[in-house]
Amino acid sequence: MGDFAKGLEGVTAAETNMSFIDGQEGRLEYVGIGIDDLAEHSTFEETVFLLWNNRLPTASELSDFRKELSKRYALPAGLARRVAEIPTTAQPMHMLRTLVSEMSLYDTHPNDNDVEQARRKAMNILGQAPTIVAMFDRCRRGLPVIEPDPSLGFSANFLYMLNGEKPTETMARAFDICMITHADHGLNNSTFAARVVISTLSDVYSAITAAIGSLRGPLHGGANEGVMHMLNEIPSVDDAEAYIMGKLERREKIMGFGHRVYKAKDPRATYLMTLAEQLAKDTGNADLYAKSHKIEQVMEREVAAKGIYPNVDFYSATTYHCIGLRLDLFTPMFAMSRIGGWSGHVIEQLSDNRLFRPAAAYVGPHDAPYVPIDQR
Ligand SMILES: CC(C)(COP(=O)(O)OP(=O)(O)OC[C@H]1O[C@@H](n2cnc3c(N)ncnc32)[C@H](O)[C@@H]1OP(=O)(O)O)[C@@H](O)C(=O)NCCC(=O)NCCS
Repeated sequence: MGDFAKGLEGVTAAETNMSFIDGQEGRLEYVGIGIDDLAEHSTFEETVFLLWNNRLPTASELSDFRKELSKRYALPAGLARRVAEIPTTAQPMHMLRTLVSEMSLYDTHPNDNDVEQARRKAMNILGQAPTIVAMFDRCRRGLPVIEPDPSLGFSANFLYMLNGEKPTETMARAFDICMITHADHGLNNSTFAARVVISTLSDVYSAITAAIGSLRGPLHGGANEGVMHMLNEIPSVDDAEAYIMGKLERREKIMGFGHRVYKAKDPRATYLMTLAEQLAKDTGNADLYAKSHKIEQVMEREVAAKGIYPNVDFYSATTYHCIGLRLDLFTPMFAMSRIGGWSGHVIEQLSDNRLFRPAAAYVGPHDAPYVPIDQR
């Protein structure tokens, strides 16, 4: 029996060609390319191709990939009806988890785990998840559903289906950058969940469904919504310091800070901070950015010595708000992007599978008597 590592901290449980994290230096690469470079120059579709193929596409490969994906934006009629039937009070992450699971009902060979078939299923989920989220949001707001436009890229099409009008180039690009920066991140909890499920040779839908369930937790992807709640609770930038100090004194966690792997500022936070600042200025939300910045300064002074810095969720909250997304859609946005990463890991796992089955250190009693029920 090996050493016990609570929370599997420091345990290496898989090999990957997809992302590399240097937590001490605050560095993240996808297939060797720095996240800043990708955020600056790439698109979400190209990034997913990179993750799934471990190399950048040629122009014609990228064009084919885009076509393959956009062909899958539309939902099967039965699934579209289901989205319309979901109670309007449902939480979007619960809705998305359920509907991704239901996608398997429309696949005639849901259990086919041949790598090519797995890619096809992954492409379906990646293409349809934004349609499901946008449709649900419009249905719950009593608005007519907007059919996808396959001539648009992943990000522009999503914002179009959500808002009913084509986004400006700046907004579509800002959203695409968020999608790029959230696409993959080593063996994080939800990715591990996906790999654990597929390692039983279950199916891609089950793996992604499990990953969505994991992501929604406030210690993982749900933190971006927590950040926004916190920003809403702070009346103005002048109240930010007292608010944070109060929380730290009560030993409460500040959402959007801290990371199991990063002991320096998360490079995604660095990039999203610049984006959030610009977007906040452009959309009349300078206030929100100022509050975030003040919180970061207070946290730097109080807890940076413990290796607690902003993570990806901290500035993505302001970014999503400025793009005009409703608060409870923040975590589904994370999921829409991470489907790219989860799927890549599922494909990697299937390509060289071994069942995950760790051990538990038993700490209970031995040789205990069985006491008959009337004597207990
Ligand atoms: C991400 C996270 C779960 C990592 O957790 P972990 O590696 O298990 O680390 P721990 O929760 O054990 O924290 C270690 C120490 O740092 C403190 N800490 C960690 N994150 C903190 C935060 N966001 N705010 C205040 N203190 C924090 C803990 O209180 C603990 O302090 P202690 O040693 O004095 O008890 C944790 O940092 C967290 O809960 N962050 C907030 C949620 C979040 O933003 N999640 C998104 C991650 S991308």
